[in-house]
Amino acid sequence: MSGSCQQPGYRPQTPSHGQPLWLLAELTYKCPLQCPYCANPKDFADFSTELTTDEWLRVFEEGRKLGAVQLGFSGGEPLVRQDLITLISEARKMGYYTNLITSGVGLNEHKVASFREAGLDHIQVSFQASDESVNNMLAGSEKAFQQKLKMAREVKAQGYPMVLNFVTHRHNIDRIDRIIELCVELEADYVELATCQYYGWAFENREQLMPSRAQLERAERITNEYREKLAAQGHPIKLIFVTPDYYEERPKPCMNGWGQVFLTVTPDGQALPCHSARMLPIEFPNVRQHALDHIWNESFGFNHFRGYDWMQEPCRSCDEKEKDFGGCRCQAYMLTGDACNADPVCSKSEHHGLIVAAREEAEAPTDKPLLFRNERNSRVFCKS
Ligand code: FES
Repeated sequence: MSGSCQQPGYRPQTPSHGQPLWLLAELTYKCPLQCPYCANPKDFADFSTELTTDEWLRVFEEGRKLGAVQLGFSGGEPLVRQDLITLISEARKMGYYTNLITSGVGLNEHKVASFREAGLDHIQVSFQASDESVNNMLAGSEKAFQQKLKMAREVKAQGYPMVLNFVTHRHNIDRIDRIIELCVELEADYVELATCQYYGWAFENREQLMPSRAQLERAERITNEYREKLAAQGHPIKLIFVTPDYYEERPKPCMNGWGQVFLTVTPDGQALPCHSARMLPIEFPNVRQHALDHIWNESFGFNHFRGYDWMQEPCRSCDEKEKDFGGCRCQAYMLTGDACNADPVCSKSEHHGLIVAAREEAEAPTDKPLLFRNERNSRVFCKS
């Protein structure tokens, strides 16, 4: 399989593109938990030189000038960063809508109050499961579940909307009713029931995580029943059920198109059009060497898959290409070795059989152990 899809000498043009409305700051790869479905790169232990506070603030300033309006703080676990309050308050002064994406581990009532004072707009707390033992097994921490419950309640008590995220997979999806009931008990306002997407560590664990079609259909049906029941009771909770693309016949328009609205910066300053692009055989710029304006508008990496010229068949002549942009470049690369191929989720792709085979694999449970995301396991994937 070839790693690069372009013809020798290919230089992407600079097709029209939007502004990076959504800036995601992956502040650190450090994390006290070890979820096997983490989308971080498997070789994260290779990238340890984190951007300084001043470097992040320069990135935020440049992002605002480019039109970014929403700033997400994620990781790893962003609470690990000692300068988080400074980053939040400075970003808020710049006019960003700020969003903290956290496991809740490392949070306490004083920190929530400080974030509120610093102007943080939104906190999303993630759970691994509704059952304490499953949650803690997946998180790799005995205390994680109780801590999350406490912090979810604290976030709500301090006036934030309660936004919860559950990544669902074959180990927790059969308890979707209990997950929803827990969210109701916690007075959640928004709940994302996001079926695992297979990137990073999740791709490594796909066989152990992917639910069967029957599990998925049942979970969706139960979610719909709860939606109706809760709406009839006048409950304001919003349940967002995200289906996995592995059970679709057409690919998702990943990131709303490459380099169109989304820009992520990794802990060590690499700028990417999506959170997974680091694995692609493409050179991406670093904010330590280049201004964000150059990165977004001029860089090879960001222009690489803009427009339609890069497409091969069947995408090139497909009448849906303006809707799905050929799907996900990272998924095409992971599964076929060529990032210019159609995303194999598409039934028109000659590689669609890979997706069908993964679905068939999901029908038979495996006893293969999960590979947890931690520094020791990451070293196996590191080049240095
Ligand atoms: Fe990278 Fe879809 S995750 S393009």
